[in-house]
Amino acid sequence: MENRIIKTVCKGIQTEDGSGVKLKRMIPSPEIDILDPFLLLDEFGSNNPNDYIGGFPEHPHKGFETITYMLNGKFKHKDTLGNTGYLSDGSVQWMTAGKGIIHSEMPEQTDGLIRGFQLWLNLPQKKKLIEPSYNDISSEMIPVVQLLGFKVKVIAGTFSGITGPGNPHTPMLYYDITMESNKNISIPIDNRWNGLCYVYKGSLFCNKKLEKGDLGVLSNNGTFNCKSINQVCQFILIAGMPLNEPVARGGPFVMNTKEEVLQAFQDYQTGNLVKETLSNK
Ligand code: CO
Repeated sequence: MENRIIKTVCKGIQTEDGSGVKLKRMIPSPEIDILDPFLLLDEFGSNNPNDYIGGFPEHPHKGFETITYMLNGKFKHKDTLGNTGYLSDGSVQWMTAGKGIIHSEMPEQTDGLIRGFQLWLNLPQKKKLIEPSYNDISSEMIPVVQLLGFKVKVIAGTFSGITGPGNPHTPMLYYDITMESNKNISIPIDNRWNGLCYVYKGSLFCNKKLEKGDLGVLSNNGTFNCKSINQVCQFILIAGMPLNEPVARGGPFVMNTKEEVLQAFQDYQTGNLVKETLSNK
């Protein structure tokens, strides 16, 4: 049986987004531009409120899904569908921007700490213009598969017969995995899916070692087997079926052609992307 190996180790880049929120951007970075169907992966985390308290005020999205997973801390969400959400520790916000949405995401700390991930999942061409939607997934709604020496929080996809609450528009999986020290885990992933793992505590070993803060891009076929070394290891594992379609990116819009992106900017500026405004909701 074929096993996946870690093809590339990426360190990401420190950057800022929104209103001065300091974050680490893994995708896109000089090391990895896109991992089809994943367009962006950020880790935000700080004990210093000045690093994030400006948050992400009102901004639009179109053409993809944003998945925000809070390890610690809270986020207040508001959007032009009229949703207000309050993400808390361990919860996930799943937003499908589709044909267009405007939202704001404002953080709050828990015991001085905020930490989490935002992932952008592309929509296939035929679904780019679907109606936007929003799903708050509380920590209690996320099943945990507990096996000897490790546990897997299944945010999306199916692990060991347990399916997560995330409802992606294109096939993918999203697990948060905790391994006790010196344990092995074997994770089946569909062949040809692109996959990555990001270690946020401890370190893991496959064909090479990933330290805390490293992102490993996996080879494309077989099971992913890895082990923890001398301490508890926590990592997220994300994989998905590549769309193999042209990608045109411009800020908060991801379409298939440059013209479609320019049109989205124009629509936003003229108030035609989304008819509603945040303030009258
Ligand atoms: Co946003």
